[in-house]
Amino acid sequence: MARIFNFSAGPAMLPREVMERAAAEMTDWHGRGISVMEMSHRSREFISIAEKAEADIRELMAIPDNYRVLFLQGGASSQFAMVPLNLLRGRGTADYINTGMWSKKAIAEARRFCEVNVAASGETGGFTGIPPRSEWSLNPDAAYVHYTPNETIGGVEFFDVPDVGDVPLVADMSSTILSRPVDVSRYGVIYAGAQKNIGPAGLTVVIVRDDLIGGEAPGTPTMFSYATHSKAGSMYNTPPTYSWYMAGLVFEWIKEKGGLKAMAEINRRKSEKLYKAIDESDFYHNPVDPACRSWMNVPFTLSDPGLDGKFLGQAEEAGLITLKGHRSVGGMRASIYNAMPEEGVDALIEFMKDFEKKNT
Ligand SMILES: Cc1ncc(COP(=O)(O)O)c(C=O)c1O
Repeated sequence: MARIFNFSAGPAMLPREVMERAAAEMTDWHGRGISVMEMSHRSREFISIAEKAEADIRELMAIPDNYRVLFLQGGASSQFAMVPLNLLRGRGTADYINTGMWSKKAIAEARRFCEVNVAASGETGGFTGIPPRSEWSLNPDAAYVHYTPNETIGGVEFFDVPDVGDVPLVADMSSTILSRPVDVSRYGVIYAGAQKNIGPAGLTVVIVRDDLIGGEAPGTPTMFSYATHSKAGSMYNTPPTYSWYMAGLVFEWIKEKGGLKAMAEINRRKSEKLYKAIDESDFYHNPVDPACRSWMNVPFTLSDPGLDGKFLGQAEEAGLITLKGHRSVGGMRASIYNAMPEEGVDALIEFMKDFEKKNT
């Protein structure tokens, strides 16, 4: 089969080595005669898989001991509700930074539970930049500050951790987790849907500081309480066992590649060459402020949108799939997460240059 490079924003490509190992272990995990899919989550075998995955993500992200790592379901979208339910603790207000579509979804959900102070917004600039920290109007009474370090749709990424003093900082890291080193101790809560940089869909990883567990609002559903999952080691109910196992294989793969520093180096190189190709041409355009261009999601438009369909069709024939931009912004989007090999980015650049030549 010809090599396909899948630029989907999620579910996204997984490393080839991980897929091959999963395939080899599919029906007979380590000589036990059964698949991980068929194992009880309480079995000795699965507990060893689960513990190893947690130990590896802790090592990769250097997660301090006073943080729990939860392996949940419900997607990042459930965290939009779990964060206010667990962190408000009787306060009536929270700060949100609005840098794009995913921030807006988090804000809309939080409004069901509290007053939301949008402390800064990139909306007037069409979400092509990040308002400087000096212009944020944080509320000293806020229970927490929520932001989206990487906006998957707009391709806008923070390159530093905003200083919000002692107020817990909450980050939706769905599309940037594990792409570079991060100082976990700066955060109260980090959450991420797995289907981009962690593993298959169905798993949500939540990293939460101990002191933020156990103060959920009265009436919080049992499954929406961090305390429930923390006390039960993420096994209060049946966890997404196969996705958890696959995440573990991805963590091992990242460790073998040299960890998050090595990932960051590769991700910087991949994204820089793609932005360079876009910037050097008058045919392609990326609207994002160069100071906050995402390493993971690279949106771009063609100067003649009438060529969009032709571009996508020919790209697909060349084995470059799922390049269509999100319906809200149009154009193209190349999602180049950890598992996208550098050859995939090189192949895309070569295709773009060739397409430009033939269509100008
Ligand atoms: C930044 C961000 N937040 C949240 C979500 C929603 O995640 P889920 O589908 O896991 O609920 C996505 C999905 O693409 C995302 O990119």
